[in-house]
Amino acid sequence: MTWLITGGAGYIGAHVARAMVAEGERVLVLDDLSAGVRSRLPEGVPLVRGSALDGELLKSVLAEHEVTGVVHLAARKQVGESVERPTHYYRENLGGLATLLDAVAEAGIRRFLFSSSAAVYGDPDVDLITEDTPCTPMSPYGETKLAGEWLVRAAGRAHGMATVCLRYFNVAGAAAPELADTGVFNVVPMVFDRLTRGEAPRIFGDDYPTPDGTCVRDYIHVADLAEAHLAAARRLAGGATGDLTVNVGRGEGVSVRELVTLIGEVTGDGTPAVVEPRRPGDAPRAVASSALAERELGWRAQRGVRDMVESAWQGWLLHHPEARHD
Ligand SMILES: NC(=O)c1ccc[n+]([C@@H]2O[C@H](COP(=O)([O-])OP(=O)(O)OC[C@H]3O[C@@H](n4cnc5c(N)ncnc54)[C@H](O)[C@@H]3O)[C@@H](O)[C@H]2O)c1
Repeated sequence: MTWLITGGAGYIGAHVARAMVAEGERVLVLDDLSAGVRSRLPEGVPLVRGSALDGELLKSVLAEHEVTGVVHLAARKQVGESVERPTHYYRENLGGLATLLDAVAEAGIRRFLFSSSAAVYGDPDVDLITEDTPCTPMSPYGETKLAGEWLVRAAGRAHGMATVCLRYFNVAGAAAPELADTGVFNVVPMVFDRLTRGEAPRIFGDDYPTPDGTCVRDYIHVADLAEAHLAAARRLAGGATGDLTVNVGRGEGVSVRELVTLIGEVTGDGTPAVVEPRRPGDAPRAVASSALAERELGWRAQRGVRDMVESAWQGWLLHHPEARHD
């Protein structure tokens, strides 16, 4: 097999590329480097710099490298920005996906894996979210992921392509410091950022109907997530047909307050958090049932939240040496 990983120079994509290379897979990456970092790529993995919206480029890359499977991670992912620029998000995320699927179908490629998100669910009032929980996304970003899944399944049916959609929950951590997330969009880097500036971490709302009043999330180590991709790729390479959509989480809720306390322990900076008003669109609780992934992919997360915070902190220190205070 030769796998094309779109968005492979990004935070998650680089972990997937590394995990696949470690398993002996042939891999190449397409990335427009809008958020990606070339140096994250494992040695020997070719990078094609270009956009998923460039159909001609995609066709020539798929043919030239004799690609037999695609892992599509390239996307814009900032929920707030998607609210302000919905057409940009639809164009990039859905336009890019449609262009890619056309090229994939034309090349006769039969295996396709798509990065979806827990954002497809919105704010479900359930203890554990299963894949049957109704999807009501609360942002244009989440809408592009849900519509993306529909498109992937429809294209799969039309062109005889086996497909897997992975709905990632809250991704954190790093398999190596140089692979760490350099963006400050998720809660772990946001707290690191505040502490590095000498400011108190912020908690948005402590009056939610949860045990300590703060939002509860399901955090998944990016190295576990990369292994879920490997498991899905094996399923596709092993001749699976049809489509599969699965949650990728740990099935364990961690509150924002618990996470901030843990970050204080790991960083040695226990500056108490300040509570600010709720942010619009934050669901009180979003925790995955991971039973289907376990059953269908034989995959289960191995790493805990402390490991995520510690490895993310090592990555943060690499890029922010001023944060070190030992
Ligand atoms: N980080 C999370 O917590 C999370 C959660 C759920 C889903 N996801 C999804 O996982 C995927 C990867 O996310 P990430 O956190 O690694 O983000 P990232 O921004 O680090 O990676 C995305 C990569 O795609 C590239 N890219 C973006 N648009 C492109 C385009 N049109 N053509 C070519 N390359 C393009 C960027 O340069 C970047 O390298 C995305 O699809 C995202 O929506 C992420």
